[in-house]
Amino acid sequence: MIEPILARRSIRTYTDEPIGEDQIRMLLDAAMAAPSGKNLRPWHFVVVTERATLTALADSAPYWKMLHEAPLAIIVCGVPAESKKYWDQDSFAATENILIAATMMGLGSVWLGCHPNDDRMDAVRGLTAVPKEVVPVAVLAIGHSNEHKEARTQYDEERVHNERW
Ligand SMILES: Cc1cc2nc3c(=O)[nH]c(=O)nc-3n(C[C@H](O)[C@H](O)[C@H](O)COP(=O)(O)O)c2cc1C
Repeated sequence: MIEPILARRSIRTYTDEPIGEDQIRMLLDAAMAAPSGKNLRPWHFVVVTERATLTALADSAPYWKMLHEAPLAIIVCGVPAESKKYWDQDSFAATENILIAATMMGLGSVWLGCHPNDDRMDAVRGLTAVPKEVVPVAVLAIGHSNEHKEARTQYDEERVHNERW
C-alpha cells in the first residue's frame, strides 16, 4: 500500500521529454491537497518551464545543477502573513505531496533546499519575481527520469519509541 512512498527517490537526470500541462495541473492539485494548520493553505507555486530561467536557477546554487536538464521546476512558496505559526510546515507538506504524486505519475523529481538560505531565496526572488514578503521554501526539479533507483525502506527500529522515549 505504501509502495509509491518507498519508490520516491531523488532523481537528478532527466530525458528532454517535456511535462504536459495536464501533468503540471495534477502535481499542483496534489500539492494543494496537503494538510495545513486551520486549513489556511498559505502557499503559492511558481511553475517554471522556460529554459533560460531553469538555467539561471541551476547556476544560482551549488547543488541545483540538475535544473540544467529538468524540463520543469516548481517553486513552492509560503506566505508567513497568511499563517504566522505554520506557514513553513504547511509548505513542506505541499512539497512532499508533489514528490509523491510525481512518483505515482512515473516522473522523477528532487527537492532542492531553498529556505532558510538567504542567498538562494534572493536568487529565486530575483529570477522569478517572488515578492519579498513571500518565502520560496523549496525548488522541485521534475522530469522524465533518465536514471533508475530502487524503491527502498529506511525503517530504523532505533528511531521508534513505544509509549515512552
Ligand atoms: C530540505 C531538503 C533539501 C535538499 N536539498 C537538496 C539539494 O539542494 N540538492 C540535491 O541534489 N538534493 C537535495 N535534497 C535531496 C536529498 O539529498 C535526498 O532526499 C536524500 O539524499 C535522500 O535520498 P532520496 O530522496 O532518494 O530518498 C534535499 C532534500 C531535502 C528534504
